[in-house]
Amino acid sequence: MAGMEGRVAFITGAGRGQGRAHAVRLAGEGVDIIGIDICADVASMTYPNATEADLRETANLVAAQGRKMVARKADVRDYHGLRAAFEEGYREFGRVDIIIANAGIIRMGSESEDFLADWNDVIDTNLTGVYHTVRAALPEMRAGGRGGSIVMTGSTAGLKASPSLLASGNAYAAAKRGLVGLMQGLAGYLAPEWIRVNTIHPTGVASGMTLNDAMRELMEQAAAGGSNSISGMQNALPLQMLEAEDVANAVAYLVSDEAKFITGTEWALDAGFMVR
Ligand SMILES: NC(=O)c1ccc[n+]([C@@H]2O[C@H](COP(=O)([O-])OP(=O)(O)OC[C@H]3O[C@@H](n4cnc5c(N)ncnc54)[C@H](O)[C@@H]3O)[C@@H](O)[C@H]2O)c1
Repeated sequence: MAGMEGRVAFITGAGRGQGRAHAVRLAGEGVDIIGIDICADVASMTYPNATEADLRETANLVAAQGRKMVARKADVRDYHGLRAAFEEGYREFGRVDIIIANAGIIRMGSESEDFLADWNDVIDTNLTGVYHTVRAALPEMRAGGRGGSIVMTGSTAGLKASPSLLASGNAYAAAKRGLVGLMQGLAGYLAPEWIRVNTIHPTGVASGMTLNDAMRELMEQAAAGGSNSISGMQNALPLQMLEAEDVANAVAYLVSDEAKFITGTEWALDAGFMVR
């Protein structure tokens, strides 16, 4: 893709899954990466987050593409820590052109005893964390005067919520839907500066969020005819899940100059999930 060489992307949740795929895909286009990940588990979740070794592996994969990644452990819920991590990367590269606010969590399965924690952890990460991410890097993006592209990772749940009474599932849909409002406000305001802002809404993606014991249990229940948060979910295309690289390919286009006219959109990357 023309024009990407020498640009810099700030990516959250870069330890594995889609965040790693974005880092590696963009590095292949000549982009340097400021990548952060929590590298720690969250008590209300039923599957593990990425580890420091995972984040180091992403940096190695970026290096194998001939680019550099400043990799830092940071939590998107902690604005000041996140800003400090971004600043370290910015000092290294001196510019930022792309922000991919990708870090996200959900609790799989039944509610915990502390349903408020289930709700708050998802809202704090998936909605407030995205605001923190944009807020941490936007001043330098604007000051650069070269425009930019911001991508917020939503979900099909942010276009249409699945029926649920689970605090985490309700919070997940509310947060992902909330991103659309945040995106629209920023996209309209920043358009005169050639800063584009879009949400993407993937269907199920093979990643740490889905390839784990908690999800396997739900899939087995659903296959046996049980009713749970994933039963009834199916794509229109005969494709069970996307690969993280499928999403990264779409995002690479979206942040490139080939998509220079695209802002303020909610892009369903959903194998027809929404039309089924
Ligand atoms: N996997 C799916 O089926 C699917 C579908 C639609 C949307 N999404 C969204 O895609 C995004 C990426 O998820 P994924 O599929 O790669 O799953 P994943 O669990 O493999 O990756 C998420 C990454 O975010 C990190 N993270 C979690 N909390 C964090 C925090 N507070 N601060 C910093 N990093 C944190 C994790 O350590 C992990 O590396 C998420 O926003 C998710 O909601 C996923």
